[in-house]
Amino acid sequence: MTPAFDVVLVGGGGAGLRAAIALAEASQRLRIAVVSKVYPMRSHTVSAEGGAAGVISPDDSLDEHCYDTISGGDWLGDQDAIEAFVREAPQELLRLEHWGCPWSREADGRVAVRPFGGMRKMRTWFAADKTGFHMLHTLFQTSLKYTTVVRYDEWFVTKFLVDDGRVQGVIALELATGRIEAITARAVIVCTGGCGKVFPFTTNAAIKTGDGMALAYRAGAPLKDMEFVQYHPTGLPFTGILITEAARSEGGYLINKDGYRYLQDYALGTPQPKPVLRTMELGPRDRLSQAFMKELDKGRTTDTPYGPVVFLDLRHLGEQLINRRLPFVRELCMKYQNIDPVKELIPVRPVVHYMMGGVHTDINGATPLPGLYAAGEVACVSINGANRLGSNSLPELLVFGARAGRAAADYVAGAKDPGTTVVAQLQDEQRRLEADLLQQRGRERIADIRQEMQLTVEESAGIYRTGASLIRSAAKLRELQERARDFRIEDDSRTFNTERIAALELSFMLDVAEAIVTSALRREESRGAHQRTDFPLRDDQRYLAHSLVQRQPDGSCRVDYLPVTITRWPPAERVYGEAPSDERSHYVARGAIPSGEGV
Ligand code: FUM
Repeated sequence: MTPAFDVVLVGGGGAGLRAAIALAEASQRLRIAVVSKVYPMRSHTVSAEGGAAGVISPDDSLDEHCYDTISGGDWLGDQDAIEAFVREAPQELLRLEHWGCPWSREADGRVAVRPFGGMRKMRTWFAADKTGFHMLHTLFQTSLKYTTVVRYDEWFVTKFLVDDGRVQGVIALELATGRIEAITARAVIVCTGGCGKVFPFTTNAAIKTGDGMALAYRAGAPLKDMEFVQYHPTGLPFTGILITEAARSEGGYLINKDGYRYLQDYALGTPQPKPVLRTMELGPRDRLSQAFMKELDKGRTTDTPYGPVVFLDLRHLGEQLINRRLPFVRELCMKYQNIDPVKELIPVRPVVHYMMGGVHTDINGATPLPGLYAAGEVACVSINGANRLGSNSLPELLVFGARAGRAAADYVAGAKDPGTTVVAQLQDEQRRLEADLLQQRGRERIADIRQEMQLTVEESAGIYRTGASLIRSAAKLRELQERARDFRIEDDSRTFNTERIAALELSFMLDVAEAIVTSALRREESRGAHQRTDFPLRDDQRYLAHSLVQRQPDGSCRVDYLPVTITRWPPAERVYGEAPSDERSHYVARGAIPSGEGV
């Protein structure tokens, strides 16, 4: 049987489109499909704001970007992958420039860069504070040049076709019609992004339900380092909308309810009027989110109907700078919070933002399952280790999207055609999705199980964790998996049946949630974003290793460990707060700090 395509890409965001372009460039003869549950320009890449890191300035170096990334990840990142990433990131960003990405400029025409958290040099390229929007546009319009790229917009992948130990395509459901098809291929590249919706409060779009992680996991690929979940320190309360780190890199201050720049109390240096690299508000995200929790414990946050908050103060930056460099921040605050950051403080709190973990791949995006590749947030190469630095994820999806595309192009040249079981697999899946799923008339509501799952994961796998709460959560998630077999579907129509999609997404999220909690329970140390109050120290003897979760036939998880690749930077203490002067100044905000009411 001849496959319909050479390569199927699952996901039409930044990584998927970059991989599609790499494939199309590799050979005009390759037949490429991009299958996405949303129209590509609605992919979550569009909401990335602050920028993309890549060494460009003559006083910066690749080694410094490597070191920042390695130390920022608390030495869990693979250094061979990080070296490749750092080397190729500037080339990819420049390539995007040639494809039309409107990077912000200095007055003399050079590409502008801004500082970002945990980085010792200014190396974050940006397009105002809508970087992801412009990058995605650039990639999308470039992909349109290639007639060999066929798009399946608003098709939802329910299963990977696996036969003879190889991935040979996907089964997908068209949202508009309910049509179910096998889309066969010699290789599949999964680029579906993260899984923030496993948690109740996230910057992630509603579509980020961990589909690709669960699809790969069910097909037999292991998930790596799933215990490492990044909280971004500044989300808007209630919506979780991201207020970009760029607001702090442009000079914004984080203050508590007393108007005090509290980060000075957490080994992040001393306050300066202007941002100082790797100090205070430009510290790494894990440390800033942990500092918020300590402020909460000390009673120095402000209660609001949507949880406790601290404040981001941009007022001293002035209207002109805010309009020029942070227009989206102003727009988001006005539209979603009804405040103007030119004149008012922005209430913020830590919010789930990014998964350091994901589908285990090598440096070229290959998973251990032949024919399956992964790139972008869905994958764990790993360059981010235990904590990703802000602005490393956009270049990551370019570098590893391109690498996965090129590697898949090489692989399909020698790959066999699909085996004989494709038709039978399609029939089984059609039965499951139509006869079984649409007829489900059980007792449980999908929304109830989803909410219980989110609260369970948040309670145990949040910023701070303990063994006892992780054990409770693991048991609860098993119970929810059982209950999810007995859910109720009230809409049995085929056309845009969002209830059926919600049921499928929930089942993916439950698998991902179990992988997160199980890996977190097994890692008895504190490293980066994984902070165990019962094991407060980093333990390189036992845990300088990646966790690998493999799905067992009964649906449970087995955890193994894989050594970390160290090339030139042996593990060391992670130190921030190198301010030029140790003089402590206590910034007090102008005007009154608002109470929680109406926030
Ligand atoms: O804050 C931000 O703009 C986020 C950037 C990132 O996650 O890389």
